[in-house]
Amino acid sequence: MSARHFLSLMDCTPQELSGLIRRAIELKDLRRRGVLFEPLKNRVLGMIFEKASTRTRLSFEAGMIQLGGQAIFLSPRDTQLGRGEPIGDSAIVMSSMLDAVMIRTYAHSTLTEFAAHSRVPVINGLSDDLHPCQLLADMQTFIEQRGSIQGKTVAWIGDGNNMCNTYIEAALQFDFQLRVACPEGYEPNAELLKAAGERVQIVRDPLAAVAGAHLVSTDVWTSMGQEEEAAERLKLFAPYQVTRTLLDAADPAVIFLHCLPAHRGEEISMDLLDDPRAQAWEQAENRLHAQKALLEFLVEPAYHHA
Ligand code: CP
Ligand code: NVA
Repeated sequence: MSARHFLSLMDCTPQELSGLIRRAIELKDLRRRGVLFEPLKNRVLGMIFEKASTRTRLSFEAGMIQLGGQAIFLSPRDTQLGRGEPIGDSAIVMSSMLDAVMIRTYAHSTLTEFAAHSRVPVINGLSDDLHPCQLLADMQTFIEQRGSIQGKTVAWIGDGNNMCNTYIEAALQFDFQLRVACPEGYEPNAELLKAAGERVQIVRDPLAAVAGAHLVSTDVWTSMGQEEEAAERLKLFAPYQVTRTLLDAADPAVIFLHCLPAHRGEEISMDLLDDPRAQAWEQAENRLHAQKALLEFLVEPAYHHA
């Protein structure tokens, strides 16, 4: 199938990604100024959620409406997907009626399999492996506040999870150095690490990771689908909490990002989101603007009138 998909940051060139961020900043400004911009009138996005979501669902749904289109929420509980209809069959049928499909799933192969049979763009709204839409918002937030991220140092503290993997892809695509501080056995994807080479360093000590860093980020210690491991993870990850004191070791102009939802008292101290260096609320809002830029980029504009 020939449609353009967004399953990973590697599906775009660095130039395309920079263009998306620039456009996201423009779309944010248009919205602030109350300008109506509806290039996707009559376009429909299907959104399949196998996992819970607040930000991803809202930003895609509101984003489509603001661009003049519509979004349909599809839960596996209520569709035949949840009763075993093959992914490929579902993709053929759904993509014959929709203009794009966003999927939040467990196995990343669900996305690749759906995309292989889809006539329309498929967007990764988070898998066990990657969360590329979140990184668009993260990069937008840094660039808005501090300018280019090229050549800067980013510290990832905590679990080598889907977010951490996507930071590795971002290091390659946006050209920054990444230090990952994680406990042994909780490293990010080995293939990605290998591909990243010297661009990514694994360090065990959070203090060493944040020293001089321009951006510090973390995420929950227990991701969706890992709930049974929660108690064990809580103990193991305790030395990896991000605190104001830890941020003091970073560059004086550091910003702290968290994709949210946050667990205060676990991966971040109780007061961290109140610190002026924390930009998590701006980052969450940027999901809307960044994904509107992505939708504008991927979805064909409306048909001509008959
Ligand atoms: N950050 C993020 O993807 O949030 P949701 O799980 O609420 O969509
Ligand atoms: N790593 C988290 C991110 C949630 C947005 C998870 O997968 O649950």
